[in-house]
Amino acid sequence: MDATHYRIVEADLDDERHCAGLVHCLDDYASGPFGRGEPLSAEVRAALCPNLRQVPSRLIRLVLHGESVVGAAVCFLGFSTFAARPRLNVHDLCVLPAHRGKGLGRALLLAVISAARGLHCSGVTLEVRADNQLAQGLYRSLGFNGGEPATWFWERKL
Ligand SMILES: CC(C)(COP(=O)(O)OP(=O)(O)OC[C@H]1O[C@@H](n2cnc3c(N)ncnc32)[C@H](O)[C@@H]1OP(=O)(O)O)[C@@H](O)C(=O)NCCC(=O)NCCS
Repeated sequence: MDATHYRIVEADLDDERHCAGLVHCLDDYASGPFGRGEPLSAEVRAALCPNLRQVPSRLIRLVLHGESVVGAAVCFLGFSTFAARPRLNVHDLCVLPAHRGKGLGRALLLAVISAARGLHCSGVTLEVRADNQLAQGLYRSLGFNGGEPATWFWERKL
Protein backbone atom coordinates (compact mmCIF):
# COMPACT_ATOMS: atom_id res chain seq x y z
CA MET A 1 0.00 0.00 0.00
CA ASP A 2 1.33 3.44 -0.93
CA ALA A 3 1.11 5.17 2.44
CA THR A 4 1.52 8.62 0.88
CA HIS A 5 -1.83 8.35 -0.93
CA TYR A 6 -3.88 5.95 1.14
CA ARG A 7 -4.67 5.62 4.83
CA ILE A 8 -6.81 3.29 6.88
CA VAL A 9 -9.11 4.86 9.44
CA GLU A 10 -11.89 3.81 11.77
CA ALA A 11 -15.24 4.67 10.17
CA ASP A 12 -17.02 7.60 11.79
CA LEU A 13 -20.70 7.01 11.12
CA ASP A 14 -21.45 10.58 12.19
CA ASP A 15 -19.35 11.78 9.25
CA GLU A 16 -21.52 12.12 6.14
CA ARG A 17 -18.54 11.53 3.80
CA HIS A 18 -17.64 8.28 5.56
CA CYS A 19 -21.25 7.12 5.42
CA ALA A 20 -21.75 7.96 1.75
CA GLY A 21 -18.39 6.37 0.85
CA LEU A 22 -19.12 3.20 2.80
CA VAL A 23 -22.51 2.82 1.12
CA HIS A 24 -20.90 3.39 -2.29
CA CYS A 25 -18.26 0.67 -1.66
CA LEU A 26 -20.84 -1.85 -0.42
CA ASP A 27 -23.13 -1.05 -3.33
CA ASP A 28 -20.28 -1.65 -5.77
CA TYR A 29 -19.45 -4.96 -4.06
CA ALA A 30 -23.12 -6.05 -4.05
CA SER A 31 -23.44 -5.19 -7.76
CA GLY A 32 -20.37 -7.20 -8.79
CA PRO A 33 -19.91 -10.89 -9.61
CA PHE A 34 -18.91 -11.82 -6.06
CA GLY A 35 -21.80 -9.94 -4.47
CA ARG A 36 -25.34 -10.56 -5.63
CA GLY A 37 -24.98 -9.22 -9.15
CA GLU A 38 -27.39 -6.39 -8.40
CA PRO A 39 -27.09 -3.09 -6.54
CA LEU A 40 -28.45 -2.45 -3.06
CA SER A 41 -32.00 -1.17 -3.04
CA ALA A 42 -32.62 2.52 -2.34
CA GLU A 43 -34.19 1.49 0.99
CA VAL A 44 -31.11 -0.48 2.08
CA ARG A 45 -28.75 2.30 1.01
CA ALA A 46 -30.75 4.82 3.05
CA ALA A 47 -31.04 2.57 6.13
CA LEU A 48 -27.49 1.21 6.15
CA CYS A 49 -25.62 3.80 8.20
CA PRO A 50 -28.48 4.78 10.54
CA ASN A 51 -29.02 1.09 11.37
CA LEU A 52 -25.30 0.28 11.63
CA ARG A 53 -24.99 3.10 14.17
CA GLN A 54 -27.32 1.08 16.42
CA VAL A 55 -25.01 -1.96 16.38
CA PRO A 56 -22.44 -1.61 19.19
CA SER A 57 -20.49 -4.72 18.13
CA ARG A 58 -19.50 -3.14 14.81
CA LEU A 59 -15.87 -2.57 13.84
CA ILE A 60 -15.50 -0.76 10.52
CA ARG A 61 -12.28 0.26 8.84
CA LEU A 62 -12.15 2.43 5.71
CA VAL A 63 -9.41 3.08 3.18
CA LEU A 64 -9.27 6.77 2.31
CA HIS A 65 -7.66 8.13 -0.85
CA GLY A 66 -7.48 11.80 -0.01
CA GLU A 67 -10.92 12.27 1.51
CA SER A 68 -12.61 9.63 -0.69
CA VAL A 69 -13.55 6.23 0.69
CA VAL A 70 -12.16 3.58 -1.70
CA GLY A 71 -12.35 0.44 0.44
CA ALA A 72 -14.01 -0.96 3.52
CA ALA A 73 -13.98 -3.81 5.99
CA VAL A 74 -17.20 -4.20 7.96
CA CYS A 75 -16.80 -6.52 10.94
CA PHE A 76 -18.83 -7.55 13.96
CA LEU A 77 -17.60 -8.76 17.30
CA GLY A 78 -19.04 -12.11 18.36
CA PHE A 79 -18.05 -14.72 20.91
CA SER A 80 -16.47 -18.14 20.64
CA THR A 81 -17.92 -20.47 23.27
CA PHE A 82 -15.20 -23.05 22.47
CA ALA A 83 -12.51 -20.48 23.35
CA ALA A 84 -14.57 -18.45 25.88
CA ARG A 85 -13.28 -15.31 24.18
CA PRO A 86 -14.56 -12.75 21.70
CA ARG A 87 -14.16 -13.51 17.99
CA LEU A 88 -14.33 -11.04 15.11
CA ASN A 89 -16.25 -11.74 11.91
CA VAL A 90 -15.39 -9.90 8.69
CA HIS A 91 -18.79 -9.45 7.10
CA ASP A 92 -17.66 -7.39 4.08
CA LEU A 93 -14.29 -6.68 2.55
CA CYS A 94 -14.22 -4.58 -0.60
CA VAL A 95 -12.01 -2.22 -2.56
CA LEU A 96 -13.32 -0.11 -5.45
CA PRO A 97 -12.17 -1.54 -8.82
CA ALA A 98 -9.93 1.42 -9.75
CA HIS A 99 -7.90 0.90 -6.56
CA ARG A 100 -7.50 -2.89 -6.58
CA GLY A 101 -4.18 -4.72 -6.85
CA LYS A 102 -2.33 -2.08 -4.78
CA GLY A 103 -2.32 -4.00 -1.49
CA LEU A 104 -5.33 -2.22 0.01
CA GLY A 105 -7.37 -5.39 0.63
CA ARG A 106 -4.37 -6.92 2.38
CA ALA A 107 -3.79 -3.74 4.42
CA LEU A 108 -7.47 -3.66 5.47
CA LEU A 109 -7.33 -7.27 6.64
CA LEU A 110 -4.09 -6.68 8.52
CA ALA A 111 -5.72 -3.69 10.27
CA VAL A 112 -8.70 -5.88 11.18
CA ILE A 113 -6.45 -8.66 12.53
CA SER A 114 -4.52 -6.12 14.58
CA ALA A 115 -7.77 -4.68 16.01
CA ALA A 116 -8.95 -8.22 16.84
CA ARG A 117 -5.70 -8.90 18.71
CA GLY A 118 -6.23 -5.70 20.67
CA LEU A 119 -9.70 -6.95 21.66
CA HIS A 120 -8.22 -10.31 22.84
CA CYS A 121 -10.16 -12.21 20.18
CA SER A 122 -9.54 -15.92 19.73
CA GLY A 123 -9.66 -15.50 15.96
CA VAL A 124 -11.02 -13.71 12.92
CA THR A 125 -13.67 -15.41 10.79
CA LEU A 126 -15.05 -14.68 7.34
CA GLU A 127 -17.13 -16.27 4.63
CA VAL A 128 -15.87 -16.51 1.07
CA ARG A 129 -17.60 -17.82 -2.03
CA ALA A 130 -16.23 -21.05 -3.46
CA ASP A 131 -15.70 -19.29 -6.83
CA ASN A 132 -13.89 -16.23 -5.42
CA GLN A 133 -10.35 -17.49 -6.02
CA LEU A 134 -8.73 -14.07 -5.74
CA ALA A 135 -10.15 -13.42 -2.27
CA GLN A 136 -9.33 -16.98 -1.19
CA GLY A 137 -5.70 -16.47 -2.25
CA LEU A 138 -5.51 -13.28 -0.21
CA TYR A 139 -7.05 -14.95 2.83
CA ARG A 140 -4.79 -18.02 2.61
CA SER A 141 -1.70 -15.82 2.38
CA LEU A 142 -2.75 -14.22 5.69
CA GLY A 143 -3.25 -17.54 7.47
CA PHE A 144 -6.99 -18.10 7.00
CA ASN A 145 -8.24 -21.56 6.09
CA GLY A 146 -11.60 -23.23 5.69
CA GLY A 147 -10.96 -25.91 8.33
CA GLU A 148 -11.18 -29.64 7.88
CA PRO A 149 -13.83 -30.63 6.99
CA ALA A 150 -14.94 -27.32 5.49
CA THR A 151 -17.95 -25.66 7.13
CA TRP A 152 -20.87 -24.48 5.02
CA PHE A 153 -22.53 -21.12 5.50
CA TRP A 154 -26.30 -21.62 5.70
CA GLU A 155 -29.05 -19.07 5.94
CA ARG A 156 -32.80 -19.15 6.46
CA LYS A 157 -34.20 -15.94 4.99
CA LEU A 158 -36.86 -14.18 7.04
C1 LIG B 1 -10.94 -9.09 -2.70
C2 LIG B 1 -10.52 -7.61 -2.74
C3 LIG B 1 -11.02 -6.93 -1.47
C4 LIG B 1 -8.98 -7.56 -2.76
O1 LIG B 1 -8.62 -6.19 -2.69
P1 LIG B 1 -7.26 -5.65 -3.36
O2 LIG B 1 -6.98 -4.33 -2.77
O3 LIG B 1 -7.33 -5.73 -4.83
O4 LIG B 1 -6.23 -6.76 -2.82
P2 LIG B 1 -4.65 -6.60 -2.75
O5 LIG B 1 -4.15 -5.58 -3.70
O6 LIG B 1 -4.31 -6.46 -1.29
O7 LIG B 1 -4.18 -8.01 -3.31
C5 LIG B 1 -4.31 -9.16 -2.52
C6 LIG B 1 -3.91 -10.36 -3.33
O8 LIG B 1 -4.87 -10.54 -4.37
C7 LIG B 1 -4.23 -10.95 -5.55
N1 LIG B 1 -4.53 -10.00 -6.61
C8 LIG B 1 -4.87 -8.71 -6.49
N2 LIG B 1 -5.15 -8.17 -7.67
C9 LIG B 1 -4.98 -9.15 -8.58
C10 LIG B 1 -5.14 -9.24 -9.97
N3 LIG B 1 -5.51 -8.18 -10.70
N4 LIG B 1 -4.89 -10.42 -10.57
C11 LIG B 1 -4.52 -11.48 -9.85
N5 LIG B 1 -4.36 -11.47 -8.52
C12 LIG B 1 -4.58 -10.32 -7.90
C13 LIG B 1 -2.80 -11.05 -5.30
O9 LIG B 1 -2.54 -12.43 -4.99
C14 LIG B 1 -2.58 -10.23 -4.06
O10 LIG B 1 -1.58 -10.83 -3.31
P3 LIG B 1 -0.08 -10.19 -3.30
O11 LIG B 1 -0.19 -9.02 -2.37
O12 LIG B 1 0.74 -11.29 -2.76
O13 LIG B 1 0.25 -9.78 -4.70
C15 LIG B 1 -11.04 -6.88 -4.00
O14 LIG B 1 -10.65 -7.62 -5.14
C16 LIG B 1 -12.55 -6.70 -4.03
O15 LIG B 1 -13.08 -5.76 -3.48
N6 LIG B 1 -13.25 -7.63 -4.70
C17 LIG B 1 -14.71 -7.57 -4.80
C18 LIG B 1 -15.36 -7.86 -3.48
C19 LIG B 1 -14.92 -9.20 -2.93
O16 LIG B 1 -14.82 -10.20 -3.63
N7 LIG B 1 -14.68 -9.22 -1.61
C20 LIG B 1 -14.31 -10.40 -0.88
C21 LIG B 1 -15.54 -11.10 -0.44
S1 LIG B 1 -15.20 -12.58 0.47
